[in-house]
Amino acid sequence: MNAMNGKNRESAGEKKTHGARVRWGILGTGKIAGKFASELKRLEAFQGSIAQAVASRDPERARNFAREHGIPHACAGYDELLERQDVDVVYIGLVNSQHYPACKQALLAGKPVLCEKPFTLHPEETRELITLSRERGLFLMEGLWSRCFPVIGEVRDIVRDREYGAVTQAEMDFGFVGNLNPQGRLMDPHLGGGALNDVGIYPLTLSQFFLGKIVDFQAMASLSSTGVDTRILINARHESGALSRLAASIDTVTQKEAYLFAERATIHIPCPFWKAPLALCRIHGGKEGSQPTSEVLEKRIEHPYEGNGFGFEIDHVAGCIASGLKESPLMPLEETLQTAVLMEKIRRECGISSPDF
Ligand SMILES: NC(=O)c1ccc[n+]([C@@H]2O[C@H](COP(=O)([O-])OP(=O)(O)OC[C@H]3O[C@@H](n4cnc5c(N)ncnc54)[C@H](OP(=O)(O)O)[C@@H]3O)[C@@H](O)[C@H]2O)c1
Repeated sequence: MNAMNGKNRESAGEKKTHGARVRWGILGTGKIAGKFASELKRLEAFQGSIAQAVASRDPERARNFAREHGIPHACAGYDELLERQDVDVVYIGLVNSQHYPACKQALLAGKPVLCEKPFTLHPEETRELITLSRERGLFLMEGLWSRCFPVIGEVRDIVRDREYGAVTQAEMDFGFVGNLNPQGRLMDPHLGGGALNDVGIYPLTLSQFFLGKIVDFQAMASLSSTGVDTRILINARHESGALSRLAASIDTVTQKEAYLFAERATIHIPCPFWKAPLALCRIHGGKEGSQPTSEVLEKRIEHPYEGNGFGFEIDHVAGCIASGLKESPLMPLEETLQTAVLMEKIRRECGISSPDF
């Protein structure tokens, strides 16, 4: 697979993966770590990256996870994994509040890192980790996997090249009903809970991937008794002048779709837009431009994939590391920092609780 997600895109589901083979260490044994591990197993069969070790706070959980996913080494605690010489890169799939300490520990141990979103819960933490990775010359990336999908890359090219004129408006929403146990990771502010942190970050960052940096916003949230946002609405202005309406929730199911509105077309990325196999361009023809009577042509952008989609991100990171890159061209660290700053402003505006820095 092309690590840079350029014009010549291929699917991680195809028979052969072109990503380099690196040995991954997985921190955490939760839901997403399981998906990551099962995708590594699938890629291994195509000479792709492999899962070398997994670590948990609970040694038995690590052993069970390793057995389930065919991982050679189970480590009792994160330190043990980070000391291993046979681990080339670390994937952090821990609760949000543990991203910063685990990331710091991994970088100090000399390991390149792919860390799940949201990268940290404070911009100061993000800044510190970026500085550390640069000082140590280590690869570091926030795991916003959406931008590694070929459909997302192709839509971005269309927007950037103004194929249908300027995109001036966008709408994106991600709402689902999660585990609303007050002690759970979605509801506990000390674990970095809330809709913005969990799923709002997808519309927030994808809208910026397509339309550029958000320079101004208005946000409104419904707060739970624990102080986190269960629903959030954001109206944003991007540096391109485009406006977007972004929504997220952890207690309501929404359409989970993205729309981009250009001068001569609407680009619709149906659910699941954050791991899209498909986008639909409805192109308004004729002299009348977008008049209701004008002809509409439909163009499909399709990149179906096998597996759960993590293969694109895994191959991308492996390719970056093999090329000696210290950060991802798809997910630059400067953008991770911008997002951390923006999320902090949104939390303040909405009164969302977050752990102290
Ligand atoms: N890319 C995606 O599509 C996607 C999807 C869902 C979630 N995520 C992200 O992935 C991360 C984990 O989400 P998840 O759904 O996998 O969560 P999860 O099932 O609750 O697992 C979280 C893991 O965090 C570890 N952990 C460390 N300290 C903890 C603490 N104090 N309390 C609870 N757990 C603790 C646990 O690992 P051990 O006990 O084994 O050490 C646990 O297995 C989050 O950052 C989330 O935003 C990404």
